[in-house]
Amino acid sequence: MSVFSFLKSLIRHPRTLGTLSPASPFTAHRVGDAIPEGAKSILELGAGNGAITRELLSRLPSDGRLLAVELRPELAEELSAIGDTRLAVVRGDAREVRNMAAQHGFAAFDAAVSSLPFALFEESERDAILASVHGLLVPGGALVACQHVPTMLPELKRRFDVDTSFEPLNLPPYFVMKAIKAEKK
Ligand SMILES: C[S@@+](CC[C@H](N)C(=O)[O-])C[C@H]1O[C@@H](n2cnc3c(N)ncnc32)[C@H](O)[C@@H]1O
Repeated sequence: MSVFSFLKSLIRHPRTLGTLSPASPFTAHRVGDAIPEGAKSILELGAGNGAITRELLSRLPSDGRLLAVELRPELAEELSAIGDTRLAVVRGDAREVRNMAAQHGFAAFDAAVSSLPFALFEESERDAILASVHGLLVPGGALVACQHVPTMLPELKRRFDVDTSFEPLNLPPYFVMKAIKAEKK
C-alpha cells in the first residue's frame, strides 16, 4: 500500500477523500476488533487504497468474502492489486450499494465498514446509504463507521444500537462507532 498514492488522490480530490491520511494501523486494528466474531461476508464503503481492507482480509476466514466499494478509480485500482480471491472491488458510488451487492451475489452481509466522509454528504444521501446498509445486514450484524467528528451518531442511533470508541493514533483521530442491527424478535 502506498501512502504516496493516497496523498496524490487527496491533493486532487480533498472533498472526496475527506481526511488527511490513510487509516493508521491502530484504526484498522480497532475496526477489525469491532467486527462480529465469525463474520464471513463483509462490505466496506470508501475503502481508499486498502488500509482497513488489508486488516479485514487478515481476519477473514478462507471461505469469507469482502466487497470493497471505492469511488476514486486510482484507489480502486490499488485495491484490486491486493489480489486476494476473497476480495471483490467495485469502482463506484456507495449510493448504489444495493445494486453492487446484488451484482456480486451478496444477499446480505454479516458486517459492514464505512469510512465514507459522511459529514460532506447531504443528509438525505446519508440517510439513504444508512437505510441500504441496514437492509443489507443480517440481524445482529454490525456497521462499523469511522468519523473524525461523530456527526453520524444521532442518525446511527435511530436505526442501530451504537457503541462508540475513540482512536487518538490517527491523523486526524477517529471516532469508531460500532452500530449493531437488532436481532429479530
Ligand atoms: C476518509 S477516506 C478513507 C479511506 C480508507 N478507508 C482509509 O481508511 O484509509 C474516504 C474514502 O471514501 C471514498 N469515497 C468518498 N465518497 C464516496 C462514495 N460516494 N462512494 C464510494 N467511496 C467514496 C474516498 O475516495 C476515500 O477513499
